[in-house]
Parts: sequence; structure tokens; C-alpha cells
Amino acid sequence: MGYKVAVVGATGNVGREILSILDERGFPADEVVALASRKSQGVEVSYGDKTLKVKALETYDFSDTDICLMSAGGAVSKEWSPKIGAQGCVVIDNSSQWRTDPDVPLIVPEVNADAIVGFTKKNIIANPNCSTAQLVVALKPLHDAATIKRVVVSTYQSVSGAGKDAMDELFSQTRAVFVSDPVEPKKFPKRIAFNLIPQIDVFMDDGFTKEEWKMVVETKKILDPKIKLVATCVRVPVFISHAESVNVEFEKELSAEDARKILREAPGILVVDTREPGGYTTPHEAAGEDATYISRLRDDPTVENGIAFWCVSDNLRKGAALNAVQIAEVLVNRKLITARSKAA
Ligand SMILES: NC(=O)c1ccc[n+]([C@@H]2O[C@H](COP(=O)([O-])OP(=O)(O)OC[C@H]3O[C@@H](n4cnc5c(N)ncnc54)[C@H](OP(=O)(O)O)[C@@H]3O)[C@@H](O)[C@H]2O)c1
Repeated sequence: MGYKVAVVGATGNVGREILSILDERGFPADEVVALASRKSQGVEVSYGDKTLKVKALETYDFSDTDICLMSAGGAVSKEWSPKIGAQGCVVIDNSSQWRTDPDVPLIVPEVNADAIVGFTKKNIIANPNCSTAQLVVALKPLHDAATIKRVVVSTYQSVSGAGKDAMDELFSQTRAVFVSDPVEPKKFPKRIAFNLIPQIDVFMDDGFTKEEWKMVVETKKILDPKIKLVATCVRVPVFISHAESVNVEFEKELSAEDARKILREAPGILVVDTREPGGYTTPHEAAGEDATYISRLRDDPTVENGIAFWCVSDNLRKGAALNAVQIAEVLVNRKLITARSKAA
């Protein structure tokens, strides 16, 4: 007998991806339930070759559900995750609501799977921000080898990171430009079609955006509080996959060649770096893939022990859905939960 799994936000970008990843990876679920807002009740979503009818979160009883994969935004998670956790169902949340809570583990399985043990305090486990997830997968093996002092990262983040309405906005604005219709920003603060926007999430008092702040605090929580990080986060007119330009400074000596060897052996990473035209990975190629791709590895001659590289990953997969399912797999593989139908 397997587990009963609920997917909240099943009609959204991340929720749909979670359903397909649960099926692809053969997650040991006896039953998968698709949940969303009341307006989506009865909508059909795919789970492998099956079709699930969406139920409303607000009328669903979690008392016999083992795992809830939650992807419905911070406000929904704030209200519902504690109630669901209190019913004995473990919530794996994709929003930023719980990530900095000291009683909630923030987990990237390739990096800090052991930190999961604290989840029983609230029965909530947080999934990091999409731009942080791919970054820490790349940084972890380098940190183990040479101790990272400082990271400078600029992101090129796809519109799917802002939800399905944001993808529609890029599509409709692109079309409007071609047919000379007026282009009206709704979801984004400025036009995204044929443009770039150097703002993701709201501004904070110090001039950084909240997305940039999240990358700092989440990297410290997942990897090491001593790492200094500064980020510039930019939205780009790409549908899927986030790219990052990363500069890393180490305590100890580590060349780009050393980094290449280390990253080739690292879990979750694929190095594609042939130093010829096209010998690197772009967002388009990473879409639909599980790996975090590393390209353009080179020594940074402006600091003592530094390298620079390019990092690309599918934000809906490693940045959200895949990471959440991998966390659920850690719970199962380490026998940290028992299917409630088994226990009964
Ligand atoms: N996209 C990414 O790359 C990414 C990465 C990491 C984390 N996240 C986080 O994952 C979450 C979902 O993102 P997304 O991109 O999938 O957004 P999305 O495409 O806009 O989907 C939102 C989902 O939430 C559901 N929802 C909204 N209000 C609800 C309510 N009151 N009760 C139940 N369900 C409700 C929606 O259902 P209806 O269709 O019924 O409205 C929909 O299924 C967000 O917290 C986001 O920050 C996203």
C-alpha cells in the first residue's frame, strides 16, 4: 500500500508539473487528489494517462492524506498549511511563506537532505525559491571543496516563474506587438514582450527587491550562513527556465578546471561547456529537463580565488515541482512517514 497525496494548486503551472513528475518518477501513491480554488472544481487535469477531477481545497478533508504538495501562493499557504499539518498530513510548500521560519526545514535534497528531520515541529517543509534552488545545487559541491566566501549572481528569469497568467501576458503582448495592438502590462510592472524588467517581487527599504533578498537568506539557510551573496534579479521574455550568471570567490584555491571536475561528479548537475559556438545550455534546452546545467566555466582573474559560470535550469521542475517531489521521496525513503492507511 502506498501513500495518499494531495496536490494543492493542481491547475497552476507548478501543480500540473507536480502531477506529471509524480507519475514520471513512479512516486508510491495509492491515490492522488487534485485540489485548487472553488472556481476550478470539476476541471480535469492529467496525472500520467489518468485524468483527475479537481476538488475545492476549502471543502477537502485532509485527515487520511499523508502528503500535501502545496503550490497555491503565500496567502493560501499561510491560512491552510498549519491546519493541514495539524491534521497529521505533511505539507511540502512551494511559496515563500514558511521558508525563513526556524521551525520549518528549507530543503534541496542534493544539498541538505539531513536538515529535513525538524519537519515534525509544524509538519511543514519549505521548497526554496526557483532561482535559489538551482544556484545551491551548483554551489554546494564547490563550497565543500574550497569554502565559498562571496557570490555575485545576476538572474535571467522566465515568465513562468510568475505563474500561468504571466505566461499568458508574454504571449498576448508578443502577439499585440506583431499586430500593432496596444501593449498593456497587467501582471508585470512594464511591458515584458521584447524587453527585460530589472524587478522581481516588491522593493525593500535598502533598494534590493524581495526576490534578491530571498536568494540571500535562503542560500544562507540551506548552505551556510557565512556565505556573502549579492543578487540582481531580472525578468526576461522567455517562457520556461531561469538562467544565472554567477561569480564565486573562495577561501581556498580552486580553478575553473577543478570546478569542472567537481561539478561533473555532482548530483543534479550536467556540465555542458565546450567553448565553441553553441557549446553551452540555453533556457530553451533546459525546459522539461531535471538537471541544473553549468556552462561557460572560467577563472575570474579579478580576484584571488574566483571562478565565473553560467547556470540554467527549468524553474518549474528543479525550481519547484521536481524539488518538492524529491522532498516527498526523502520522507518516504528515510521512512520518516508511514502511510496512514497502513497505520490504521
Ligand atoms: N513558477 C515557479 O517557477 C515557481 C517556483 C517556485 C515556487 N513557486 C511558487 O509556487 C506557487 C504556485 O505558483 P504557480 O506558478 O503554479 O502559480 P499559478 O500558475 O498562478 O497557479 C496558482 C494555483 O493556485 C491555485 N489557487 C489560487 N488560489 C487558491 C485558493 N484560494 N485555494 C486553492 N487553490 C488556489 C490556483 O487555482 P485556480 O486555477 O483554481 O485559481 C492554481 O492552481 C506560488 O507560491 C509560487 O510562488 C513557483
